[in-house]
Amino acid sequence: MLTLGIESSCDETSVAIIKDDREILSNIILGQMIHSEFGGVVPELASREHMKAIISVYHEALKAAQVNPDDIDLYAATYGPGLVGALLVGLNFGKGLAYGKNKPFVAVNHLEGHIAANYLIHENLPDSHLTLVISGGHTLLVQVNGFGSYQILGQTQDDAVGEAYDKVAKLLGLGYPGGKEIDRLAGEGDKKYFKFPRAMIKDESLNFSYSGLKTAVALHVRSLTEEQLQKHVADIAASFQEAAVEVLVEKTIRAAEELHIKDVSLSGGVASNSRLKELMQKRLQNIGGNFYCPPPKLCTDNGAMIAAAGYRRYKLSGPSDMNVNAVPYLKLA
Ligand SMILES: Nc1ncnc2c1ncn2[C@@H]1O[C@H](COP(=O)(O)OP(=O)(O)OP(=O)(O)O)[C@@H](O)[C@H]1O
Ligand SMILES: [Mg+2]
Repeated sequence: MLTLGIESSCDETSVAIIKDDREILSNIILGQMIHSEFGGVVPELASREHMKAIISVYHEALKAAQVNPDDIDLYAATYGPGLVGALLVGLNFGKGLAYGKNKPFVAVNHLEGHIAANYLIHENLPDSHLTLVISGGHTLLVQVNGFGSYQILGQTQDDAVGEAYDKVAKLLGLGYPGGKEIDRLAGEGDKKYFKFPRAMIKDESLNFSYSGLKTAVALHVRSLTEEQLQKHVADIAASFQEAAVEVLVEKTIRAAEELHIKDVSLSGGVASNSRLKELMQKRLQNIGGNFYCPPPKLCTDNGAMIAAAGYRRYKLSGPSDMNVNAVPYLKLA
């Protein structure tokens, strides 16, 4: 069975084709460079760029997979959460293809897509596990009880961790989006240079907070001269990253121990962070747990994760109603 997955919720136009539940035949991802000069995604520009790109990305995905359009059995597209204008482009394109080809269509929750990226890679990931969904818009600690059954154990009370990475990158003059660059620079810096706050680390809940950390970095940067800042950019990146990652790891391990869950996965763009993966793996090893994480290309937004979730959604509950609309603030559970 061939599933074509479409992702357009933010600033990546992506179309992928997968065979059955996990074989990726193609996964074309086109990022939008236009936003970098504004230091963040401009919603109207994002939808226009998706409109310009979607047809060629679709053809490229078919070509790379060496698949004839008539061979696609199922169409899947993200319907939320995300920017409404951006979502509408991919959603309507997917619905139009399904209608024109008389094939089923399934609308996919973007967050379920991020989680499903793990199924593409880890055949042995048990149905019941913990996952940390960490991206530009979300920080969620989720108990998964089989595909489609989610219990949110904790979430950010303010900014998402990816948003904090992007804002700190901007403060350090590293461009947008800056998570990957902070990760790289942190490798050259001293993580003990400055002790930024570990927000809510001692709090009983499994919730997170990232706006205070971002402010602490801003105040520190403001206290430096331009010369001092240039000298310590890598140290600030490393110290910020250590604070951001430590809380994620601490709360995830605490949940795994309290709930006696051995298997923990990461999903979303921040899941490609090297320090997070290193620390999480080490801490899980200490408690006899197992660690799962998709490769970076499947962590940030991509069509393959939407196809993977769409395939499973279709098996679970059949096709979506063709009247399905974009839902910008769609929740996972
Ligand atoms: N190596 C990395 N370390 C830290 N953060 C990273 C890394 N690579 C990417 N990111 C961050 O991941 C985020 C993008 O992830 P993703 O594409 O999943 O987010 P989004 O789709 O914009 O948000 P959402 O999925 O919540 O709608 C950005 O904030 C980016 O800075
Ligand atoms: Mg995303």
